[in-house]
Amino acid sequence: MTDRGTMSLVAFMQAGNVTVYSGSWRHPATEHGFLDARYYQKLGRTLEEGCLDMMFFDDRLAMPGIHGGSVADAVRHGARPVKLDLSVVLGLIAGVTDRIGLGATYSTTYYSPFHVARTFATLDHLTGGRAAWNVVTSVNDAEAQNFGVDTILGHNERYDRADEFLEATCGLWDTWDDDALVLDRTSGEFADPAKVRELDHHGKWFDVRGPLTVPRSPQGRPVLLQAGSSGRGRDFAARWAELIFTGDPGIDVARSHYRDQKERIGELGRNPSSVRILPMAYTVVGETRAHADEREQQFLNEFVDPAASLTLLSELMNHDFSGLPLDTEITDEFVESVSGIRGLVENLRRHIGGTVTLADLAGHRATLLQGPRFVGTGVEVADQMEEWFTSGACDGFVIAATHTPGAYEDLTRMVVPELQRRELFRRQYEGTTLRDHLGLNRPEVGETP
Ligand SMILES: Cc1cc2nc3c(=O)[nH]c(=O)nc-3n(C[C@H](O)[C@H](O)[C@H](O)COP(=O)(O)O)c2cc1C
Repeated sequence: MTDRGTMSLVAFMQAGNVTVYSGSWRHPATEHGFLDARYYQKLGRTLEEGCLDMMFFDDRLAMPGIHGGSVADAVRHGARPVKLDLSVVLGLIAGVTDRIGLGATYSTTYYSPFHVARTFATLDHLTGGRAAWNVVTSVNDAEAQNFGVDTILGHNERYDRADEFLEATCGLWDTWDDDALVLDRTSGEFADPAKVRELDHHGKWFDVRGPLTVPRSPQGRPVLLQAGSSGRGRDFAARWAELIFTGDPGIDVARSHYRDQKERIGELGRNPSSVRILPMAYTVVGETRAHADEREQQFLNEFVDPAASLTLLSELMNHDFSGLPLDTEITDEFVESVSGIRGLVENLRRHIGGTVTLADLAGHRATLLQGPRFVGTGVEVADQMEEWFTSGACDGFVIAATHTPGAYEDLTRMVVPELQRRELFRRQYEGTTLRDHLGLNRPEVGETP
C-alpha cells in the first residue's frame, strides 16, 4: 500500500442508449438493455463484486438539439437521445446491491433545493447510506428550453446560483437532528419538535421554508460530487465537493490540475487530502496485448459517426457547429464566444499544442480523449493506473465504458485483481456507507463541507 492509501474507483455510468463514448451503442458486444431494469441491476452486481466505491450516473436534461437547430441527427445517430430518470434507476439498483455507492447528477439550474434535498435524503435512507449527488450547473440552451427558459444563465451566474443552492440544500439536510425520532408508542411522541427546525432560507435565488420531510439520513448528508474545470468551477468544487471528477487528457495536465485544485481546497481551510480527485479514464483491456490493441482500434475508428460527435460537441459548447468547416481554427476569441464547457477546450488546447481545429475537438469528443485511455492486458492497464496514482496526478479514477456491460466485466475480471495484488485497491468493503469507502467523516448538523 502507498502512503496515500488505496485508490478510489468509480464507474462512470449512463442511464441511456450510449455511454460517454458516442459509438458505444454500435459496439457488437454492447447489450441494448437500457430500457430494462435487469440490465442496470446486473451492472450493479458486477461492479459491487469488483468492490468499486461507487457507480455514478451522469445526466443531461435535453436531447441534443443545438447542432443544425434540430434533434434529427441526435435521433438518427443515437447521439444520446435517451436519458432515463435517475432516481428510479438508482432505486432499482439499490434493491439488488448492499455496499456500492450510488451517485446521480442533478442540476442546480433547473431543479429546486427542496426537491434535490428530499430525493437524495430518501436515497440515502433506502440504501443504508450509499447516496451521492453530482452537482452540475448544466451547460446549454436545449436544457433551459425544457424548463421554460429561453437561454441558459451566464457561466459565473450559474455558479453563484449553485452556491446558494448548496447553502439551502445542506441547510435542509440539517433541519432534523440525528436523534429527533422518538417513536414511543406508549407516550405517543413520534419525534421531538425541539429537534426538527424550519430553515427559513431567503436569498437571491431561493426562498425555502423547510423543514425537510425526510429525517436526517445515515450519512448525515449524501456525498457531494462535482466536476468544475474552469477557475470559477474549481473554486466551487473547492468549497463544496467531497469527491471531484476531472477530464484531463494527459498526465502532465492532470498533475497541474490536481495541484491547483488541492491548493484551492487548502486555501479555504479544508483538508486537501480529504477530497479525492478522480480523472475520467477509459480502460481497454484484453487477454493479450494484441487483443487489447484490436479493441482500441475498433473503439477509435469503427463506430463513431462524425455527425454524432459534432452533435454532442455542440451540446457541450452550447454552440451550433453545423455550418463550420472542420478545419476551423479554435482561437481565444472563439473560446470566449461559447458559453458551454470552456475548461475542456482550454485543457485540450494545452494538451494538443499548436493549432487546434474543430476536427480535433470533434475527434476528442467522440472518444472522450480529454481523459486518458489505458490499453493493454490487466497487468499493463494496472501499470498505467499505478503511475498516475503514485505520481500525484489523481486519487483514483472514474472509469468510462467503451461498451456495456463488457468493459466493466473486463475491468473487474482483469484489472481489479491486479490492483488488489499490488495493494492499490481494496479486496473487500470495510464499511457499509459510501463515506466509509471514501474515508470521509460523517458531518455533524451545521457542519458545512
Ligand atoms: C467525469 C465528469 C462527469 C460530468 N458529468 C456531467 C453531467 O452528468 N451533467 C452535466 O451537465 N455536466 C457534467 N459534467 C460537466 C461538469 O459538471 C462541468 O460543467 C464541466 O467540467 C465544466 O466545468 P466548468 O463548469 O467549470 O466550465 C461532467 C464532467 C466530468 C469531468
